[in-house]
Amino acid sequence: MKRVIAIDGPAGAGKSTVARRVATALGYLYVDTGAMYRAMTLKVLRCGIDPADRQRVAQLAQETDIALATGPEGAPQVVLDGVDVTAHLREPGVDLAVSQVAAIPEVRERLLEVQRALARRGRVVLEGRDTGTHVAPDADLKVFLTASPEERARRRYRELVAAGHAVTLDQVMEALRQRDRQDMTRTAAPLQRAADAIEIDTTGRTVDAVVEEILRYCREGE
Ligand code: C5P
Repeated sequence: MKRVIAIDGPAGAGKSTVARRVATALGYLYVDTGAMYRAMTLKVLRCGIDPADRQRVAQLAQETDIALATGPEGAPQVVLDGVDVTAHLREPGVDLAVSQVAAIPEVRERLLEVQRALARRGRVVLEGRDTGTHVAPDADLKVFLTASPEERARRRYRELVAAGHAVTLDQVMEALRQRDRQDMTRTAAPLQRAADAIEIDTTGRTVDAVVEEILRYCREGE
């Protein structure tokens, strides 16, 4: 059985749902690295700091503690300076600023330490943009999830509406485009498919089908 699994891909490709289900099926820890960047962004916004102000954001990152925990019924939680902030991580303000904050090398270095320490323990499913290329380049299994831009926007739109946010599909599509562009073109650990990753297009496929396919790869070679 593969012990370290890295699942990367752009926003809305279905990574979180799939990675979480794979982790549950295997009894592994689920590490949502995007949620850590979101928690850092939440703190930047709450402190009234401009996400483009590299120096101040870098300094703030040094004074910030971000950890993962497991809540009631096994739900993953992100703990920012000792407080569970999971419910705030998907707010549109965080969506808009997170790629800017995640592009700051000092922020990445800080979170990389935490993520690598979790990866070293083994029996983990890492999910994000650079887990197969930077966090765990020697992962036992690397998956790169994609989906068409329209489907990715529709998924994110449904998620936001369900959470009570007043947004239009066009706004969500534009925000996703902008985030993709920023994530792919930044210099520090850009979103990239690792050369040895298996690419799975989730467009029009059920979560069950994608999870099953990944679990088959996990069991390969046993
Ligand atoms: O996966 P999620 O949409 O929650 O990620 C939010 C943002 O965090 C991404 O758009 C990206 O800017 C950043 N991120 C990153 N590296 C990761 C995971 C997320 O830069 N490994």
